[in-house]
Amino acid sequence: MDRLKVAVLVSGGGTNLQALIDAKKRGELKEAKLSLVISNKENAYALLRAKDAGIKTEFIPSKDEEALITCLKSNEIDLIVLAGYLAILSQKLVKEYENRIINIHPSLIPSFCGKGFYGLKVHEEALKYGVKVTGATVHYVNEIPDGGKIIMQKAVYIKEDDTKESLQKRVMEEAEWVILPKSVDLVCEKILQDRESI
Ligand code: GRF
Repeated sequence: MDRLKVAVLVSGGGTNLQALIDAKKRGELKEAKLSLVISNKENAYALLRAKDAGIKTEFIPSKDEEALITCLKSNEIDLIVLAGYLAILSQKLVKEYENRIINIHPSLIPSFCGKGFYGLKVHEEALKYGVKVTGATVHYVNEIPDGGKIIMQKAVYIKEDDTKESLQKRVMEEAEWVILPKSVDLVCEKILQDRESI
């Protein structure tokens, strides 16, 4: 139990962080200890959610990546979860934590993803294209934005009267908050299996 230390990186509201906190309380994250929440925005509401849950928090501006690396190392972080973290990590960090950084994206990759596709823009483009199904994807982070190996996906049907706001809300509720905790649990198991096989 709780054998792996997880850092959650955030920039905003932190509803995905909350989904992880709630999953932990329900006993659904067996090996993941939510030990640190790092925000690149000082006033991110996600930081309050973390404090409420008794999780250590840090504010590190995205330009200060050396400080981010130092912080991850000194806290002996095993897995990094990007949960609405609006900054691109350097190649150095991505290499150093290969297969140990995951991200949640609010579409079915490879649709509506990559550079510039974040927040409401993703849902706006899905509606504009006229797709009938969208969803969310959890994937490993590599050097290509939204380009790493897919871990889990969940589909959400688009309704005739959906707006980008209503779609964003349903994708979060029906897909993101469901697959992010499941993916964290799965990836933790995988990290431990890989360690045991060495
Ligand atoms: C989510 O839609 C997530 O998929 C994306 O950014 C948003 C973050 O929302 N990467 P929150 O801060 O978790 O509420």
